[in-house]
Amino acid sequence: MIYFDHNATTPLRPEVRAAMEPFLGDIFGNPSSPHAAGRQARAAVEMARQQVASLLGASPQELHFTSGGTEADNWALCGHDQIVTSAVEHPAVLFSAQARRDLGGDVTFIPVDEEGRIDPAAVVDIVGSSDAGVVSLILANNETGTIQPLAQIGSRLRQRSVLFHIDAVQAFGKIPVDVDRLGADLMSLSAHKINGPKGVGALYVRPGTVLAPWTHGGGHDGNLRAGTENVAGIVGFGAAAALRQTDMEEDAGRLSGLRDRLERGVLESIEDVVINGSRSHRLPGTLNISFRRVEAESILLGLDLEGIAVSSGSACTSGTAEPSHVLLAMGREPRLAAGAIRFSLGYQNTAAEVDGVVELLTPIIQRLRALSVY
Ligand SMILES: Cc1ncc(COP(=O)(O)O)c(C=O)c1O
Repeated sequence: MIYFDHNATTPLRPEVRAAMEPFLGDIFGNPSSPHAAGRQARAAVEMARQQVASLLGASPQELHFTSGGTEADNWALCGHDQIVTSAVEHPAVLFSAQARRDLGGDVTFIPVDEEGRIDPAAVVDIVGSSDAGVVSLILANNETGTIQPLAQIGSRLRQRSVLFHIDAVQAFGKIPVDVDRLGADLMSLSAHKINGPKGVGALYVRPGTVLAPWTHGGGHDGNLRAGTENVAGIVGFGAAAALRQTDMEEDAGRLSGLRDRLERGVLESIEDVVINGSRSHRLPGTLNISFRRVEAESILLGLDLEGIAVSSGSACTSGTAEPSHVLLAMGREPRLAAGAIRFSLGYQNTAAEVDGVVELLTPIIQRLRALSVY
């Protein structure tokens, strides 16, 4: 199998698995227990908190572990009636905001340009003319990899009494992410996008930020998120973050090279394609391409039959292949948006795999176009 779907999820790195294993076996104490077994688990959780915080430029006590990015996004927006967000958010933010609106809240969606980028001045204008309680923006888009100019927005929002939430799930561990440089009050993270385990993430909370408890119970995590911690998952998250701390820069260079090789290969071999997203502000391993006169689902299935895993931008989770809301917000016509494929590369991918994908993709597109009614 050639796996080019790392923005969906990544394989667990062997070092992460090795770090987690003792906590699935002999070290099983409850971190809230005062005895030795509990203290051992607590020490591991706190070590992981430090490892994750360190990659963010945050203090460990500012980090609250969650069940993933979705929970962190939901928590960040809960309790806010006036929300400013963008048209290219992940569904975890989009639907959290819509849920607030269904309860009588007010949500403003900021448009993006044709590269999918937000204009910082537009955010400041909208915030200035509203009673927004929170501005929630994605740092790197999961579909296109487009990176937003959030540091410029964060510095301008600091002068206002509005919270700034950043969904950094796709950016964290792939590009430098620093809570102070970005001016974040709240930030969502997830472990499984960086070769950590699934079902664990975190919400960063700047000191002084008023945040309602998310779950009520035994007083865990400073009474903010009650529930016995997912110790093995948290340890894995910490280990994955620590690996990124050492590997990120080198990996980013290698992945950008592979991504550019893939882009070049497709552009040279297949006509009538359009690159989606910013080419100058983009995640190292992400490439989103629309193939004219073809449905992305058919390309995905064709590649799947060849043992290649990629993603289409459509919202297939709802059972209908709707064109991506991200590409539509960028002004792509629906038919072009419906032909978009996301290739997302990760740490084990090679140049030979990139060349293999280009070679197999070319006849698939030719075949599908020969059958196309467009
Ligand atoms: C930008 C972004 N936010 C949030 C999430 C949700 O994270 P999780 O899968 O950990 O719930 C994802 C996952 O795809 C994402 O890409």
